Parts: sequence; structure tokens; C-alpha cells
Amino acid sequence: MKVILDLDTGIDDAMALAYTLGRMELELVGVTGTYGNVYTEMGVQNVLNLLAMFGKEDIPVFLGETHALYKETFLRNAVGARIHGQNGVGEVEMAKAKRQAETKSAVDFLIESIQKYGKALTIVATGPLTNLAKALQTMPEIKQQIGSVVIMGGALTVPGNVNAYAEANISKDPEAAKLVLESGIDVTMVGLDVTQRSQLTKVDTQIWRELDTVCGKTYADMVDYYISQHTHSNGTACYLHDPSAAICALHPEWFTMLPMHMTVVTEGEAAGRTIGDATKLRTPNPNVKVCVDVQSEVLEQHLKETFLALFA
Ligand code: BDR
Ligand code: CA
Repeated sequence: MKVILDLDTGIDDAMALAYTLGRMELELVGVTGTYGNVYTEMGVQNVLNLLAMFGKEDIPVFLGETHALYKETFLRNAVGARIHGQNGVGEVEMAKAKRQAETKSAVDFLIESIQKYGKALTIVATGPLTNLAKALQTMPEIKQQIGSVVIMGGALTVPGNVNAYAEANISKDPEAAKLVLESGIDVTMVGLDVTQRSQLTKVDTQIWRELDTVCGKTYADMVDYYISQHTHSNGTACYLHDPSAAICALHPEWFTMLPMHMTVVTEGEAAGRTIGDATKLRTPNPNVKVCVDVQSEVLEQHLKETFLALFA
């Protein structure tokens, strides 16, 4: 399966990247960067450094949009800097990649890849959906060609994590998310409904550390930092937001999905809320599959095995 990752790297984005690299079934054709946990350039630098560490410098990386569709700028919030660290990767110092991002933009790369690979391509987006929305605005014809899109974002059956309504990725660009979810393309929504059901603990990271490899130690340090920021577990376990989306692309059978026409609230106190589109209750063929349950133990075990083999 050909995959593009659209990331705001971010520690759990870095986990989604490692998972994708660790699965032979997935061919990562490129990584596009966006803003969110970090500024776009920071996130892209993190991806370049991680790919260099894994010896995967043949995978192209593209700079994406730097702010929401209808905003002038993006100002990183204190929560993102706390949860992911000032540098986005838990203050872990990585060797700087020798190469830089490609000169082509993320939006152009997405359009060209959709035209080139068609239905064979899966786009896994784990940040705000601005790059994809911009690609759909720039070249609406790609709607007919695009394969599947799996997003980490939203919350249908549980409260948000920014406020009672909104999940962080969707809240940073509700208009982009609305455009993507209402576009009619095949979207799987991997939201807080499922990503908060799966976890990793410091027992897991200790195993990577004991491998005594650069990759094992780097990921153990990053994820330990991330775990320490999770208040729900008193800093003993972290949620698996972004890796759940990457896993869902390969193993949808582990998820319970509800087919729906979805929309996004763009104004008022509920801005960023992902909700069923009440105007389409009698419209056939809902295009969004909302994940509402997951076989967490199977997913966690699979992720641990994949990481162990990759980091060794
Ligand atoms: C999402 O927000 C970001 O902080 C994470 O990387 C994840 O994509 C979770 O709400
Ligand atoms: Ca993310």
C-alpha cells in the first residue's frame, strides 16, 4: 500500500512515522509537513532528522501550509509546547539531517501523487487538514481520483481535548476539516473515540532503551517525555493518537466504524466539533467512516512488535 504521511511532528506523529517505516506492507512515498504541535518548518526538520536516523533519506519531505486556510498566521500554543516539548520531540537532541526539504510544496506533491497513484494511494493525516483542503481547493478534480484518507482528528462519542467540543487537530483549522469531510472522498476518522483507548507505558519504552540502539534510545526518551505529560494516567501512560491512524490504514478490521455524513462546526463555542450532518440524514452512501471502537490490546501488541523490530 502506497502511503503519504501528513504530519505536524510532534511525538505521536513521530510514532506514526516509525510505525509506517516499520511495516513492509506500507510504502512511504513521501512526508508532507504541516503546523500544529509545532511550526511547519520545525516539524519538517524533525521528520528529516528522524528519517536520517532510520537511514531513510530517500523518502522525500515537503513543506506544507504554515497556517489555517482562512487565517493569516499560526501561533503555537503553550499546550502543544508542553505536551511535545519546545522542539516538538520532547527536548530530545537528534543529529541534524544533512539534506533539506524538497523545493516542491506539500500541496503540489499531494496533487501530483493523487494523480499518479490514484486509488492505490492512502493519505494518513495526523495534523490540521489544511494541506489536503488546499489541494482539493486548488485541483477539485482530484476528488474523483483520490484513494483513501485516514485522519487522526475529531471526536464523535466523547468530549474533545481542547474543550468539551473540539479535538486539537480539527480545532486548528475547522474550515479545512469541514471541506475534507464534506468533500465526498473516502475518509476514515480516527478520533479521540478510539485513540484514547490505546496506550503505551514506560515499561514499553524501557524495552526499547535496553536495545541499546540510537533509534531505541531516541524513541524511549521522546515517548517517556510524552508519557510524563499525560495527566489522565498521572504520567504513567500515553494515548496512541497518531499511530492509531497509521495502524487503521493497514488494519481497518481492528476498528468498529460507523458510516456517516460528517460535518464540522466552524463558528461559536462549539467550533471544531465533528458531528453528523443533519441535512444529509436521508442522503445515501455516507463517505466518512467514523471509528468508534478498537481492539486496543491487539493494536498495542502490534505496535510494540513493530517498534521492537524497527529499533533493534
Ligand atoms: C492530536 O493533536 C496533536 O497534539 C497530536 O499529535 C495528535 O495528532 C491529538 O488531539
Ligand atoms: Ca499530530
